[in-house]
Parts: sequence; C-alpha cells; structure tokens
Amino acid sequence: MDQKSKKIETVLSENRMFKPSESFQAKAHISSMQEYESLYKKSIKDNLGFWESIASELTWFKKWDSVLDENQAPFYKWFVNGKTNISYNCLDRHLDDATRNKAALIWEGELGDQRTLTYNQLFREVNRFANALKNLGIQRGDRVAIYLPMIPELAISLLACARIGAIHSVIFAGFSSESIRDRIHDCEAKLVITSDGGWRKGNILPLKNIVDEAVKDCPSIKHIIVVKRSHSDPFPCHIKEGRDHWYHRLIDGVSGECQAEEMDSEDMLFLLYTSGTTGKPKGVIHTIGGYMTYTYLTTKYVFDLKPEDIYWCTADIGWITGHSYIVYGPLLNGATVFMYEGAPNYPDKGRLWKIIEDYSISIFYTAPTAIRAFMKWGDNWPNKYNLSSLRLLGTVGESINPEAWMWYHQIIGKEKCPIVDTWWQTETGGIMITPLPGCTPLKPGSATLPFFGIEAEVVSEEGKDTEAGILAISKPWPGMLRGIYGDSERYKETYWSKWPNKYFPGDGAKKDKDGYFWILGRIDDVVNVSGHRIGTAELESIFVEHKKVAESAVIGIDHDLKGQCLIGFISLKDSVKATDDLASELKDWIGKKIGRFAIPEKIIFSQDLPKTRSGKIMRRLLRDIASGRTLGSVTTLADAGVVEQLKVKYEED
Ligand code: WT7
Repeated sequence: MDQKSKKIETVLSENRMFKPSESFQAKAHISSMQEYESLYKKSIKDNLGFWESIASELTWFKKWDSVLDENQAPFYKWFVNGKTNISYNCLDRHLDDATRNKAALIWEGELGDQRTLTYNQLFREVNRFANALKNLGIQRGDRVAIYLPMIPELAISLLACARIGAIHSVIFAGFSSESIRDRIHDCEAKLVITSDGGWRKGNILPLKNIVDEAVKDCPSIKHIIVVKRSHSDPFPCHIKEGRDHWYHRLIDGVSGECQAEEMDSEDMLFLLYTSGTTGKPKGVIHTIGGYMTYTYLTTKYVFDLKPEDIYWCTADIGWITGHSYIVYGPLLNGATVFMYEGAPNYPDKGRLWKIIEDYSISIFYTAPTAIRAFMKWGDNWPNKYNLSSLRLLGTVGESINPEAWMWYHQIIGKEKCPIVDTWWQTETGGIMITPLPGCTPLKPGSATLPFFGIEAEVVSEEGKDTEAGILAISKPWPGMLRGIYGDSERYKETYWSKWPNKYFPGDGAKKDKDGYFWILGRIDDVVNVSGHRIGTAELESIFVEHKKVAESAVIGIDHDLKGQCLIGFISLKDSVKATDDLASELKDWIGKKIGRFAIPEKIIFSQDLPKTRSGKIMRRLLRDIASGRTLGSVTTLADAGVVEQLKVKYEED
C-alpha cells in the first residue's frame, strides 16, 4: 500500500467528534452551525458583497472603485483604486479608544527579560523607526530585507516599512549567508535590518556576521541597520562606518510622528520566499488591501478574539504564520499579542507552560511537530504549571495525527479548549480551511470546513469532483498571492494551469460524508520537515554544486517527530571515496547553502541512482527503499541491480 492510501485509510477510520462546550459557544463570535452555514452561503453567493462589507470595517483613505477586477485573471486585483495603509490600520485606528493604553505586544526574551508595548507606545516606536528609514533614503517601493531574531524590533520593522510603503522581505534567522544573498539579489534590496545577535538555547546566533558575509556580494545594499540585542556590551560584530548604523542611535531624537503613506490597495506589502518544485525559491508577493482584509477577518473568527485575550502564536515572524498571525492579523483586531524569543526547551522543557502560566495566555497556536516533541518530553512538564487560562488551541503547518491531537486536547486543553486545525499556505496569505471554535464539531486530524468566502473542492487530475484527490480552490480570495517576484509566468504555471480558473495548492486531500476536508500532504516534490517547506529539487541542485558529487536524488519520508524528513541519495564522481566524513561534509554543505533546518536526516551513497530507461530518477523506488517497504515494480528500471544494492546499503546504515 502506498503512503497516500495508508493515510486515507487512517483518516477514514477516525470517527471521534468533539463539540465545543456550551460556555465557549455562548460567548463565541460564531456560535452555531446554522450561523456558520448561513453566513458561509451568503459569502459564496454574494462573494464580492461579503468582502466589501468586511473591508469597510477597516480604514481606507479613499474607497475602492470595484471590489474585484478579473480582467487579467489570474492576475486578480482586489479593492481596485482603494487607498489605505496597513500600519495605520494596525496602530492609528486603535488610538481613539481604550485600546490606546492596552498592551499590543508583550515580549519575553530567552533569558527572561521582558518588554511590553501598549498600542500607543508601539505606534511611537514604529513612527520613529519609519522616520529613521526615511532619513536613510528609503522610499516607497524600495525593498528592505529583515534578518532579525524574535524581538519587538522585528514587528516594529515590518510595521515601519509598511508605514512608508517600503516592501519588506523577512528572511528567517535560521537561513545561511548564501540564502540571504540570493534573496537580496532576487529583489535588489537596498537595506538589511539585522541585530548583533539573538539568543537560541543559551547560545548567541551571530546574525550581523552572517549578514556581513551575505552582503559581500550585494551591490544593491546601501545600508545595514543593527539592533543591539545584548543588554550591556554588544555581541562581537563589525560596524562599517557609513554603511552600518546602530538602531538605537538612528532613532535617537527622531520624531515619533510619521504620517502613514497613502498606498494603493494593490501596492506590494511584502515578499516572502518559499520553496517550490524547482531549484530556485519563489518570492511570493502579497499586496496591501486584500491581505489586510483577509488576515483581519480570519484572525477575528478563527481565534474568536476578544478584547481580554492574551494571544500567543509560537511561529517565527520569518514565516508566513508570523506575518499574518503574530503581526498583522492580531494588531488589526486590537489584540494583545505575546511574543517569545527563544527555544521551547530552554532552560528546561517546561518553558512554554511556564510562560502560559506567567502571562495567563488564553489562546495558543503552535505546530504538530512541536506538539509531538512536547508529547515525547512527557506530561510532567505541562502538569507542573497552571494552564487554566487557556481557552482555545490551534495548530498549523501539517496534518496533525489523531494521537497528537488527543494529547493536545487532554493534557494542554484539559478537554475544555477547542482545537482549530488551520490549513493554509504562504501563498494563501491567511487561513483557508479551518474549524470555527464556537461551532464546528471537531474530528481529530481534519482541518474541517472552508472559511467564509472560500470555495474548496477535492478533484481529480482532470478537475472532476472526487472523494480522494487533489485540493483545489475555485474562487479568488482577497488574501491570495498576487504573483512571484520577477516571474509572472511561473505564477501562472505553478498555481493556475492545472485546471481552468482553479487555484492548485499542491496538496492531496479527501472529503468525507460530512464535507470535512482531510489534508493528505504535498503531491509535488515539496517536503514538509517540522512544518518547514523544503523543495527537493533545491537540495539536489545544491548537492551537485559540490565538487565531489555526480548526481543526487532527495526524497521525503515519514518521521515520528518531524512529520517528514529528508534522505539524500548521492552518487559520487569517479575516484571519490564514500566515507562518513564525506557524508558529514555534505550535510554541512546544505547547512551552509540553505540553513541547518534543511539538512537531510541521512545521506546514502550509491554508485548509481535507479533510473528509468529514459533516464528519469525513480523517486518512488527510493522512497520505498527508505521507508523499508517492499519494492514496487522495477520492470522499467534500466539496471535492476542498482536497487538491490541500494536497499542493502540503506539497511546497513
Ligand atoms: C503547506 C504550506 C501556513 C503556514 C505554515 C506553512 C501544509 C499547512 C496544514 C494543516 C495539513 C497543512 C500543506 C501546505 N499545511 N497547514 N493544518 N493541515 N497540512 O506554510 O510553508 O507555505 O506550507 O503546509 O502541505 O501546502 P507553507
């Protein structure tokens, strides 16, 4: 049985169902399935009217002429000619009422240091930094790369860029110099915002040094702004006169008032690079008006946000989850966001539960891979702390296995917190398939039903309705990506060419008799390792850049903690000897070229890789070998002996 049918069988046999408690339901924004269904129907039938009414809840400097322009589909435009500013909507909009003095951001560093910024204080900080950016010559439309640890200045940087109309491109602080360089090259960023360092598991990540290495070869970079993360002496790093500037000096004495630029709804807000099926990461484009409307509404309903909530999403702002559900969505709603800098197991494995107790966190949003690690660490850790402030839990990044769901429900949620399993992607901008916590009956492992305004289907390769097949989205939605930076053909080809007028997300899915969606994982050559998306083609092309490597094939297989992990099959050039040292060297090579999170679990050397007679590498066979399954048909193989040798090799390791 292949992996996919095994998965379908597991999800078919999952028939537990959990309803929200009456007390949760009574206070929820959407509190019954009738309410969900009637609003859902309305949102599909009068889709544009629905989105228009939601967008009207936000502040626009000038109203749009039309809600959606489909003339150049798939290059859709939302809220055409509307003028707004998302930073204004996240900050200024809340200054006229009691939200002004409410905590916007509560932050804890890994060492236990704390900072709280009210909406008014965050507004000042963002304005001051926005002015500082302008003083450096950053203008609307300029691209700004951001490479920071999870500190308040990261959120401030996003909002300051948005305020002046600069386009931010956040690079997760686990990426290597070379990945930073490639991302800077692709969008010709003028500025990098970084810090001397950041804390992770008691160690200092030398971020500025990594940036220095990256920009050696980046003529577009005119300035580097360096946040001093350390309290006393800065972490050792070099400041190049004229090019590099300490953040605290730059904002010193600068005015705390900076008028928000009047931006067009379809101006770019940010780029975020993500892996696809080819060797080159894609710069996913999100624009202002639609993204703002979509993250605003999804945050409000999916997390059932109330003014008194303390909301914590454990993602890093370096990924889309952090953009949409740490910064923009919650601040658009005037929520209090908790943010943590460090590792979940520092100084011990109780750190997250201690934080929940200390700050009375009420909403907690994390990933299945983290939940599986917590399970492994044992119930004693969460049981030591008072978690009674929690009222809602969430998960994102991959399907959650029912055992992990049950553990989360019982040990963390004490059987009283609904769990929202949210399916979405970097490209979708916001949550697309999800329970609404006050009404949707939950089935462990299912992302349940589409959000308002979202029409989702499960179809065959040919686009026909089917029970188990490929997920498709059959209507544009405001949060959708608007393109791939510098490559509009790739945008059309990747997402809109499989079926006419339907968006192809790349996931397999199944729909059950109640209309619930069960996501079965990627059907393309993208592997989901601990919720990080990694393209196998990207790794393969990096392997063959190594002077000792002739050919490589990278595959993903199931992994207990990470969901999936990577296995690299490598054939070496003639006369190069396969050794353990070389395997470590190749792992380091990936770490250096991409980042440590992309290092394969295992490297298997082989004289040849199994190929069809036409020369295509047979990945299915490699997956079978690596998963220890009986081998499928090898009749099309050019040299059947290769497989046997590989199998023996793999099992020896
Ligand atoms: C891919 C997108 C969206 C933020 C995190 C990842 C998988 C995401 C779920 C879920 C099953 C999920 C999909 C998707 N995925 N959430 N709740 N259930 N699968 O963003 O890096 O753009 O990856 O993550 O395969 O296509 P991303």
